[in-house]
Amino acid sequence: MTKKIIIANWKMNPKKAKEAQALFEAAKEGARGVKNIQIVVCPPFVWLGILKSNVQVKLGVQNCHWENSGAFTGEISAAMAADSGAEYVILGHSERRRYMGETDEIINLKIKSALKAKLKAVLCVGEKFGEEMSIVVESQIIKSLAGLSVNQMKDVILAYEPVWAVGTGHNCSPDNALSAGLFIRKTLTKLYSRFLAEKVPVLYGGSVDDENDNAYIDQSRLDGLLVGGASLDAEEFAGIIKGIGR
Ligand code: 13P
Repeated sequence: MTKKIIIANWKMNPKKAKEAQALFEAAKEGARGVKNIQIVVCPPFVWLGILKSNVQVKLGVQNCHWENSGAFTGEISAAMAADSGAEYVILGHSERRRYMGETDEIINLKIKSALKAKLKAVLCVGEKFGEEMSIVVESQIIKSLAGLSVNQMKDVILAYEPVWAVGTGHNCSPDNALSAGLFIRKTLTKLYSRFLAEKVPVLYGGSVDDENDNAYIDQSRLDGLLVGGASLDAEEFAGIIKGIGR
């Protein structure tokens, strides 16, 4: 049985190191004894050094630069993140597309750099309110994965995050998430093969909480969750872990 993946995206939270440590320890505590589940916590870069991952709860980051090092003021490379304990990186998140102007071409460069640094790349795709899911998601996948080999795809995870569901409390219906997941696999089949498409984990993100979490696994048949707001509440996040881990 393959492990379900639960990724906590803390975004620009919490404000204090002590809070970050407490939240991380609570996630580890919540994961104790839970089987068949991989938890990944993605804190802001500055807390990486003070959080000690274990087998069940690994560390990731929410962004990286596309170069290894150099004159890029204020940036952090995938290699630096990896050296600081990160094993995963979230790329193409809608907040970075929206506020930092990230394009699919930039995201493509970042994925390549992440894979070179031996990070697993979590590519976020999803449409805005009023947009056609299939048109947006297909284009994002084709451009973001351009030039990636079958071998490189072993370290890529897809996350369907409809922009209208992120941080809004309007989560996507399990049926729509099922359709999006199938569409993502169809697109990967066209680009690679059915075999590969079935192996790539596809997650759901957008207003996931302790109540709606199981539907995305059971009804939408997805491989895990990308959790924002609910991952900042220790009790709620532990509830999600226990609910999916069962
Ligand atoms: P919310 O769970 O707060 O909607 O955020 C989802 C998200 O952006 C995860 O990457």
